[in-house]
Amino acid sequence: MSCSSFRSFTLTILIAILVWSSATHHTCNARRGRHWRNPSSSLSKKKSGNHHHNGGGGGGAGKSKSKSKSSSHSHKTPPSKDADTYNVLNFGAKGDGTSDDTKAFEGAWAAACKVKGSKIIVPSPYKFLVGPITFSGPYCQQNIIFQVDGTIIAPSNFKSYGSGLFQWILFTKLVGLTIQGGGTIDGSGSIWWKDFPANDPFDDQLKLIAPTNGTINQTSHSSISDSLGGKMPSIKPTALRFYGSFDVTVTGIKIQNSPQCHLKFDNCVGVSVYDFSVSSPADSPNTDGIHLQNSKDVLIHTTDLSCGDDCVSIQTGCSNIYIHNVNCGPGHGISIGGLGKENTKACVSNVTVRDVVMHNTMNGVRIKTWQGGSGSVQGVMFSNIQVSEVQLPIVIDQFYCDKTTCKNQSSAVALSGITYERIKGTYTVKPVHFACSDSMPCTDVNLNGINLKPVQERYHLYDPFCWKTFGELVSPAVPPVECLQIGKPSSSHVQADHDTC
Ligand SMILES: *[C@@H]1O[C@H](CO)[C@@H](O)[C@H](O)[C@H]1NC(C)=O
Ligand SMILES: *[C@@H]1O[C@H](CO)[C@@H](O)[C@H](O)[C@H]1NC(C)=O
Ligand SMILES: *[C@@H]1O[C@H](CO)[C@@H](O)[C@H](O)[C@H]1NC(C)=O
Ligand SMILES: *[C@@H]1O[C@H](CO)[C@@H](O)[C@H](O)[C@H]1NC(C)=O
Repeated sequence: MSCSSFRSFTLTILIAILVWSSATHHTCNARRGRHWRNPSSSLSKKKSGNHHHNGGGGGGAGKSKSKSKSSSHSHKTPPSKDADTYNVLNFGAKGDGTSDDTKAFEGAWAAACKVKGSKIIVPSPYKFLVGPITFSGPYCQQNIIFQVDGTIIAPSNFKSYGSGLFQWILFTKLVGLTIQGGGTIDGSGSIWWKDFPANDPFDDQLKLIAPTNGTINQTSHSSISDSLGGKMPSIKPTALRFYGSFDVTVTGIKIQNSPQCHLKFDNCVGVSVYDFSVSSPADSPNTDGIHLQNSKDVLIHTTDLSCGDDCVSIQTGCSNIYIHNVNCGPGHGISIGGLGKENTKACVSNVTVRDVVMHNTMNGVRIKTWQGGSGSVQGVMFSNIQVSEVQLPIVIDQFYCDKTTCKNQSSAVALSGITYERIKGTYTVKPVHFACSDSMPCTDVNLNGINLKPVQERYHLYDPFCWKTFGELVSPAVPPVECLQIGKPSSSHVQADHDTC
């Protein structure tokens, strides 16, 4: 291409870009204008506006029906200022903690679902007993708000879960849903914690630290009595689960005593969780705080998580995860994995965990993968993690196994670009444990500002351990991590195309 024809080519492109950008600018302005007018005029003009629209067609009639229903209801109980609010008390909820309010919640949802930006009210100080329930949204309007100021409590028997459900409360296929308020969601988990069904995962991190001095005792498996409403289903439900949703927010509320995981996001894009807390006992089995799976663009901050398993667990299919200002403990720490179980492919990338305080947790920050998996974990930053009395503050375990023995396999989920900076505080067993795969060593593992001290002499203390771990010691670590191999492995197994992410 000659110089002049290149110049005119560039000019054409430039003009094209200018025309295009001015066009998009106009649509943006127009859209912004509409959004801008909406809130200011909503109170004064909404009524007349709605009448006007209702003349239009069938869709409008349905909408107006649901609206007038809500406003006639709101004369009975605490009147609400907004036209588009749906108080569960107006749908027959008793809120006495013993009557089954499931139907009322379903009714409120059916009405709210039809109205964009509507609000469901779960008022304080009421306590609503609600069975397994699904707030399903493929045909619901966007931006619905669930205002939880009261308590929602799960049944304290197994009957309503039938042969087993993955969750107690499910929100599915929604756009822009927000759960907010100062209320509590209580999973009545204690009946579920007394027994471990055979397929329960068991977080057997004890193997890494054995032999400890017998202070950790595995509870023996007791059988649950039939008096608690039948046999325990083989699946323990997650308390609150979001599936296949966009732009989800959970804020203000507390989730406690879940049978299993407290809050789970599955196949979601755009998740925001803040000013949020989880509370369940340290010895409640498998009670993760927040569980992420196949989800992208997730922000979690300003949360207090205390539970019996991982405070936050990041599973396959997650990327662009940003977690900061979290208090974790008791619990098992913040984990990526276990990934690659049963020879599956796992992909996790771009995870930042920073400004976290962990007290009395099993692990601090951990990445765990099963032998035999494929795929990769890439681009992980753990920064400013303050640990106190944490058994194992820094862990990479590519030999994760929750059974007593797992087969040795050569394929592995590849780990690279893992940075630890300013990990400080006290540990009770071993400061650093890096166990990477022989065939797929961990690469680009960087340590900067590691300062970990043993808390006391009660336990047998271990030195930092590394196996097949390559990277850089950006600044001297306390204690020294001399086992980290500086640089890159001379040769490393290369994954087949179908195994890369
Ligand atoms: C562990 O459990 C066994 C049997 O239940 C019990 O005898 C023992 O005292 C326990 N040890 C500790 C340290 O709790
Ligand atoms: C990584 O994730 C953050 C959010 O935590 C996002 O802002 C950033 O754009 C992502 N980076 C890449 C390369 O996708
Ligand atoms: C797996 O490999 C490790 C290390 O090479 C070895 O100590 C162990 O015995 C092997 N386990 C099995 C089940 O082959
Ligand atoms: C376990 O504790 C006992 C007494 O408390 C001590 O004598 C022993 O050396 C400890 N064992 C280990 C492995 O730390």
